Amino acid sequence: MKMWGGRFAEGTAASVEAFTASIHFDARLYRHDIAGSRAHARMLARQGLISEAECALILAGLAEIEGEIERGEFVFRPELEDIHMNIEKSLAERIGPAGEKLHTARSRNDQVALDLRLYLREESRRIMALLAELQGAFVELARRYRQTVMPGYTHLQRAQPVLVAHHMLAYYEMFGRDRARLADGLKRINVLPLGAAALAGTGLPIDREFVAEQLDFPAVSANSMDTVADRDFVIEFAAAAALIQVHLSRLAEELVLWTSEEFSFVTLPDAFCTGSSIMPQKKNPDVPELIRGKSGRVIGHLVALLTLLKGLPLTYNRDLQEDKEPVFDTVDTVAASLTLAAELLAGLRFNEEKLAAALSRGCMTATDLADYLVRKQVPFRQAHAIVGRAVAYALEQGRDVGELSLIELRRFAEIIEEDVFAVLSVSGSVASRRSWGGTAGERVDEAIARAQESLRAEG
Ligand code: ARG
Repeated sequence: MKMWGGRFAEGTAASVEAFTASIHFDARLYRHDIAGSRAHARMLARQGLISEAECALILAGLAEIEGEIERGEFVFRPELEDIHMNIEKSLAERIGPAGEKLHTARSRNDQVALDLRLYLREESRRIMALLAELQGAFVELARRYRQTVMPGYTHLQRAQPVLVAHHMLAYYEMFGRDRARLADGLKRINVLPLGAAALAGTGLPIDREFVAEQLDFPAVSANSMDTVADRDFVIEFAAAAALIQVHLSRLAEELVLWTSEEFSFVTLPDAFCTGSSIMPQKKNPDVPELIRGKSGRVIGHLVALLTLLKGLPLTYNRDLQEDKEPVFDTVDTVAASLTLAAELLAGLRFNEEKLAAALSRGCMTATDLADYLVRKQVPFRQAHAIVGRAVAYALEQGRDVGELSLIELRRFAEIIEEDVFAVLSVSGSVASRRSWGGTAGERVDEAIARAQESLRAEG
């Protein structure tokens, strides 16, 4: 007999049992389900809905079940559908009628919403910590390569020289925003749904504030119908996660490019690469490639969740059971990718000679020459045109604009003097970019110090 079987004359078809069961994936919520049941039982006792003795039996039974699940001794039964009924049934079998009182003033509809909120609260915090570790890895690279200059790109064309540290700190900022997004989502995750019951609330004298306190929720949900129908917090989490994975994918793409023979800007640790079964010379950047590739599934999960919700009338619908697998896989994928990315960055080496060679070509100080003319009162548009002609002249001869002599430069603008060479060098170019947020060494030093301070303060 099913736990809900009272009104049924026939048993459930085996195919339906298999189709509707979720225990094979929602067993993962057991700790959260038990934590919720503990708080609920204490509240029921406080309100006189069960006795203190019954509450004590329930708590002991739940502890036993939790231990068995942890040790892998608990037998999950698919015919009991989900984690909620597996635990409840097992409790009743252990302690008798007291166990059958646990579900008083509760529905699986508010119960599953609670489990998911507890789960995502924990995972959001774990992922925030992983993001902070990754940010720390970027700050460490920034410190290590504080003096090293590399080409900065737009349109994947060499544009202007920048410090490697500046490039690393761009990622520090990106993943900082991701962390802030998760922190913001936590405000909406952190609302107690229990007490909404099936959809309309309950006629029994419950105390939702007490449950909220027990489970450390700063707020109680306001509308019982919204409470059991709402999965916005899941979608927000999935959206934040998708953006994290997109950021990781952009990083991965740069690493794949930079490790190619064509760039050779960086070397990955051997432990993070694999070889080819046919080409003995190969050392492939599989880890970045897989991180990039996994963005497909994480983005897909976000789209799946949005699609899942779009046609649902209020309130709870069984469709909502389909939210779990995407969100679990999102958590697993993002957490693993963040962990691997941080480990890989710790072993990343920049090839300084290759960077220097790349900097000597591409006329990357052309903007600096234009700025030089601007400082001599030449209108910027005219300066742009003058430098354009000088670049064309240099390229015709297979040289870099920074390699032209003073005599040659003066053919394009009389006003140019000996001091031009200070700005035409790569290091001069970098040092000149002192605007707030720019790549000059002093700005980058300040940025590193701020980053260290903020990671220290939060960690
Ligand atoms: N396994 C269900 C889910 O994940 C739990 C809630 C079921 N509620 C119901 N009335 N059938 O959504």
